[in-house]
Amino acid sequence: MDTKKSSSAVENKYRALLQPFTLPNNMELKNRIVMAPMTNFSSNPDGTVTEAEVNYYARRSSGVGMVITACANVTPNGKGFPGEIGADSDEMIPSLKALAQGIKGQGAKAVLQIFHGGRACPPNLVPNGEIVSASDVPMENEGSPTPRPLTEREISEIISAFGETTRRAIEAGFDGVEIHGANGYLIQQFFSPHSNRRDDQYGGSIEKRLSFPLAIVKKVQETVQEHAHGPFLVGYRFSPEEAETPGITMEETLVLVDQLATLGLDYLHVSLQDFWAKARRGADPSKTRIELIQERIAGRVPLIGVGSIYTADDALKALETTDVPLLALGREIIIDPDWVQKVETGKADEIVTKLDKSKQKELVVPDPLWNAIINSPGWFPGVD
Ligand SMILES: Cc1cc2nc3c(=O)[nH]c(=O)nc-3n(C[C@H](O)[C@H](O)[C@H](O)COP(=O)(O)O)c2cc1C
Repeated sequence: MDTKKSSSAVENKYRALLQPFTLPNNMELKNRIVMAPMTNFSSNPDGTVTEAEVNYYARRSSGVGMVITACANVTPNGKGFPGEIGADSDEMIPSLKALAQGIKGQGAKAVLQIFHGGRACPPNLVPNGEIVSASDVPMENEGSPTPRPLTEREISEIISAFGETTRRAIEAGFDGVEIHGANGYLIQQFFSPHSNRRDDQYGGSIEKRLSFPLAIVKKVQETVQEHAHGPFLVGYRFSPEEAETPGITMEETLVLVDQLATLGLDYLHVSLQDFWAKARRGADPSKTRIELIQERIAGRVPLIGVGSIYTADDALKALETTDVPLLALGREIIIDPDWVQKVETGKADEIVTKLDKSKQKELVVPDPLWNAIINSPGWFPGVD
C-alpha cells in the first residue's frame, strides 16, 4: 500500500508535464514533451529514409506528444549533411510517407523540419560543389569555403521550394512542418549581419534582413491554406544570438520574435544548448534568454524551450519557472526513449541520463548516428 501511495505522489508531482496542450490551429498534443529535431545521418545517399531510421523514430514516438524530424533539405544545393532526409522532389514523397507513418503509428504528431544549409553545406554534397548564401562571406571556421551570393531570382526559387516541400509534407501525411531558421543555416544567414552584406531588398537594414525569413513563412502558410485538408501546423525555429561580430544580438532576436509572433504560427522554437542560458549582449544580462523571449512574445504564440533537460525534475523546473508550455528533449530522448512512459508510470527516478554504450540495439539507434555520438567525446553524457 505504501508503494502505491508513493508512486501516485510521484505521478502527481510531474503532472504538469503530462497535461495535453492545444496549439493555435486546434491540434491537440497529448503532453508537453517534444522530441527535438536531430540529424541522424542515416538516410540513403538519394535522400530516401532507411528502415533503421524509421525504426529509430518509431521507438521514440509512443511517449512524446510530438516528434520533430531531422532537418530535410528543400533544394539539392541545400543539403547540409551526409545521410540527410531528402524533401526536394516529389520522388521523395513515398519515403516521407514512411517516415510520417512510423511516427504517427506510435501516437505522436509528426513534424518535418525543413531547411537549406546555405554556406554550411559541405561542397561534396551539393551540385557542382557550389556553395551558396546571402553574400560571399565564409563561416569563420578555418578552411570554410567562400559561398556564392544568391541572385534575387534564385532567392525566389528557394522561397518557392520551401512551399513545395511543405506540399510534399502534407501529401506524405505529416501533421506539420518546422521552418529551420536556426543554427546558422541559410534562413539565419539572411537574418545575420555577419553573413548578409547585401544591399538589395534582402539586406542592409534589419527589416530587409528579415524579408527572406518572413517570405518563407508566408509561402509555407499559403501552401498550407491551399493544400491541407485538415489542421496542419507551422512552427519556426530560431537561434537567439551569434558569437561573431557583427552578428545577431539578443536585441535583434527580439525584433525577429516580435515579427514572428504576429504571423499566426503554431509555435516558435528556440534553439539552445542550455535552457537556462543568459543573454550574451544586447539585453538585460540578469535574465535568461527564454525569459526575455517569453516577455517579448507576451502570450501571442506558444514557445518550445530546449537545452540540457535530462531528468523529470529538470523538465518540471523549466516548465514551472518560465511558463514555457512545451519542452523539447534532444540527447535525452536518444539516451532514454522511455522517458515519458517512466514519468507517466511513477518511475521518473528510473530515467537513464547517461548513454549506456552497450545498448545500441535496445535503444534502436542507427549506426551512422551511433558512431557520430560515440566518436564525439563530451557531446553526450556518458561518452567521454
Ligand atoms: C545528434 C544531434 C543532431 C541535431 N540536429 C539538429 C537538426 O537537424 N535540426 C535542429 O534544429 N537542431 C538539431 N540539433 C539540436 C537539438 O535539436 C537541440 O536543440 C540540442 O541538442 C539541445 O537539446 P538537448 O540538450 O536536449 O540535446 C541536433 C542535436 C543533436 C544532439
